Amino acid sequence: MQILSLSLSNYRIFKRLEMDFPQRLTLLVGNNAQGKTSILEAIHFLSIFTSPLASSDREAINLLALKEEIPVGRIVGGIQKAGKKHTLEIRLILNPAQNGSGRLRKEVLIDGVKKKLFDAVGFFNSVLFLPQMTRILEDGPEERRKYIDQLLSQAYPGYVRALSDYQAALSRRNALLKLLFDKGGDEGQLAYWDEMIATNGATIIEARIKSISDFEEYFREQFRRLTGSREEIRLDYQPSYNGENQANRQLELGINQSASNPFGYAEIRENFLARLKTLRREEIRRGVTTIGPHRDEIRFFSNDIDLGVFGSRGQIRTAVMALKIAETQWLKDKSGELPVLLLDETLAELDELRRADLLNSLGLDEQAILTTTDLKLFSPDFAKTCQVWQVAEGRVEKSNSG
Ligand SMILES: Nc1ncnc2c1ncn2[C@@H]1O[C@H](COP(=O)(O)OP(=O)(O)OP(=O)(O)O)[C@@H](O)[C@H]1O
Ligand SMILES: [Mg+2]
Repeated sequence: MQILSLSLSNYRIFKRLEMDFPQRLTLLVGNNAQGKTSILEAIHFLSIFTSPLASSDREAINLLALKEEIPVGRIVGGIQKAGKKHTLEIRLILNPAQNGSGRLRKEVLIDGVKKKLFDAVGFFNSVLFLPQMTRILEDGPEERRKYIDQLLSQAYPGYVRALSDYQAALSRRNALLKLLFDKGGDEGQLAYWDEMIATNGATIIEARIKSISDFEEYFREQFRRLTGSREEIRLDYQPSYNGENQANRQLELGINQSASNPFGYAEIRENFLARLKTLRREEIRRGVTTIGPHRDEIRFFSNDIDLGVFGSRGQIRTAVMALKIAETQWLKDKSGELPVLLLDETLAELDELRRADLLNSLGLDEQAILTTTDLKLFSPDFAKTCQVWQVAEGRVEKSNSG
């Protein structure tokens, strides 16, 4: 998998941007706040159809463009996949609303033909490595859910649809719960939303169970390798839908009991639905849906120590590196091609030995795009193998590496 070219309009700091990328290594060099990370963000947007950085995708539209009548941000990637060239385009269209806030609409086109978002996600695979990704382990569960969701969205398009339908149903259900508390009324109205939540929720939970245990094998192997086999890592998926018995949730689900017989979609759905019925009174009182994939947790254990709580800085960084290498290989096995690697500031932080190890284990005979504020942090030998682009004030210029 390769990205051959990128063109942006009204995206972040870039009014317009045109770039091309060589088959292997590209280095984006520039001072702080010049647009380097935004370029990687835009490329990764082409994989997951949402910004990996912004809390809302509208933040990615250029601020000056927001003054236009209908602001449109645009990302166009020239993609090479299975030996064929394609154009993948994402349009972020901010339709002005009556109340002035505006509604963001996303359009996706492959080779000029409009596609449903859900059919096109995962068309182009990339792995993004940001220095702040230690947050996946250190911060609250929503960071880990976001991580897993973004990973799975590249491998299973149906997952994104279920997630989107689930989220929509969840906010409708929560609104109804509040209404029932404030104004009373027929609780039977909840039945429809319970169905929606349990149906889409079960799809999400089943996908999380299966893919997390599949991905865990890749992750384990990398972590073992990076720590010289001293540490065993484990991913502990804790679905919240049958919540009372916190400690035994894994066992109830049978995840670690017998991999060949995990709970299937039908059992999860039934179980989830039954729990929603039991909790109905309490949920009306609280005005929120208290169980479901939006409350799931995934913990990282190394030698049975919870890294999110007790992990050292070094352990956490090693875990993130193992995650990223594992992601690369996992996506390669899923799609048959190595994803494009997007490494933000990451390599500069490592010493020569670990850098060589990372580059080797990522399989950098394929394509990678790296950023740095200081070209001198890379050895001249390494820099010579890269196409260098200077990034300054939202403009880019090709330059020679030395
Ligand atoms: N929607 C937007 N419209 C206009 N400018 C934006 C928008 N979003 C971010 N910016 C600006 O883009 C600039 C570049 O951000 P970016 O994070 O890409 O820089 P960077 O080169 O990676 O910097 P650093 O080396 O500090 O990481 C910042 O100054 C930021 O204020
Ligand atoms: Mg940056």
